[in-house]
Amino acid sequence: MTHLHIHPSILSADFVNLQSELQRIGSADAVHVDVMDNHFVPNLTLGLPVVRRIQEVSPLPLDVHLMIEDADRWAPQYAEAGAASVTFHAEAAAAPVKLARELRDAGARAGMALRPATPVEPYLDLLGELDMLLVMTVEPGFGGQSFLDVTLPKIRRAAEAIRGAGLPLVIQVDGGITEDTILRAADAGATVFVAGSSVYGADDADAAISALRAAASRPA
Ligand code: DX5
Ligand code: ZN
Repeated sequence: MTHLHIHPSILSADFVNLQSELQRIGSADAVHVDVMDNHFVPNLTLGLPVVRRIQEVSPLPLDVHLMIEDADRWAPQYAEAGAASVTFHAEAAAAPVKLARELRDAGARAGMALRPATPVEPYLDLLGELDMLLVMTVEPGFGGQSFLDVTLPKIRRAAEAIRGAGLPLVIQVDGGITEDTILRAADAGATVFVAGSSVYGADDADAAISALRAAASRPA
């Protein structure tokens, strides 16, 4: 069975205590870092200097999710900072193939994200350039929103296209992932799950991660 990856999002962590917040998720596969610029989304979080510092102290690999305009210009610097994966939004990249190649050349895995209303079909021929496709399951910008079931058919279509072409990329989902929703996303074909409030909102973050893993592999 495919290993399910859980990436807690530090968007729901305590931003003044990031180092100890990273220690709370030792059983995770990576830490998801949401970079927002108040232009691509109506929220502002953190940028390169903070990501560089997180990279220095994090025991887990960094999964950087860029919710920023002009990804072509900024994304490669996150790869150079040592992030294991860097995901840009399709809607914010002028030259996604060139950008994905630059990310890989800088040693990161290349991810591309789609907002809930962005179809996957225009991007099917690009999938071979990517290591990860992020299907947003909420409107990007904030933690704690409800999972959008309307995104499930897109996850299914992307998974079918990936299988059909024999490509190695994985599908990540981000937004509203809880014990109640994770199985629906897993059944549709996602194998990498971002979870913010459902992990960092719990008293025992590692127990919440185990509960998500169990819920994702439970038979439907
Ligand atoms: C939202 C961010 C998510 C966010 C998810 O725009 O991209 O990573 O942290 O938070 P939850 O899991 O609470 O929906
Ligand atoms: Zn995210």
